[in-house]
Amino acid sequence: MNGIKKTFDKWAQNGRAELMENEHRNNVTKFFQTITFDEPFTFLDVGCGNGWVVRKIAKENNCKKSIGIDISNKMIIQAKKKRSNKKEEFFHTDIEYWDYKGKFDFIFSMESLYYADSIEVALEKIYKLLKSGGEFFCGTDFYTENKATARWANVMKIQMHLHSKKEWKEFFKNAGFQVKTKHIKDSKNKKKWKREFGTLFITGKKHKK
Ligand SMILES: C[S@@+](CC[C@H](N)C(=O)[O-])C[C@H]1O[C@@H](n2cnc3c(N)ncnc32)[C@H](O)[C@@H]1O
Repeated sequence: MNGIKKTFDKWAQNGRAELMENEHRNNVTKFFQTITFDEPFTFLDVGCGNGWVVRKIAKENNCKKSIGIDISNKMIIQAKKKRSNKKEEFFHTDIEYWDYKGKFDFIFSMESLYYADSIEVALEKIYKLLKSGGEFFCGTDFYTENKATARWANVMKIQMHLHSKKEWKEFFKNAGFQVKTKHIKDSKNKKKWKREFGTLFITGKKHKK
């Protein structure tokens, strides 16, 4: 975990948080276009980086609260500096140990969950943090079928759990979610993997009581 904190603390300070924002923006925006925010809702971004998605969602009229958490303190400092709306809140914490009493309608995570010590524990926590009928949207570019990204673990030299789409679906089912998946591709991107595989979004819905 220390390696992850250190790496992302560095990224927060050398401009790579904004590079990530630029890299992820197209596909995340396309994904959110498939979601309707037509009722009042609360939102959490797990591994929010510089907080760009928290700010984006806080602009939705029906958004009551948009929270971002990150294990890197430096990311959270950046996110707080960029705050543009009173609905936004940021906390420096690890999802696996976050002691939060509230519950959310929507939880989101982009390119973050596979860094968790245990994906199972993180998903169990996320499930508890959702209201019944709530949804978790989890985006990942790093998955087994997307071979061009599998080498990232060697480059990063930190803990990154590589899983296939089938394995991700199993994790979600085991945590209690109803699961569906969607690939969002970027047909005009220079990178072949973005055109051919794209971002895998796994959506987990918590059963209504
Ligand atoms: C690849 S970055 C993605 C950032 C952001 N979601 C984006 O799209 O720009 C992954 C982020 O997840 C955070 N992270 C990793 N493990 C975490 C954990 N267990 N709890 C909270 N945040 C975590 C990292 O510090 C980092 O900021």
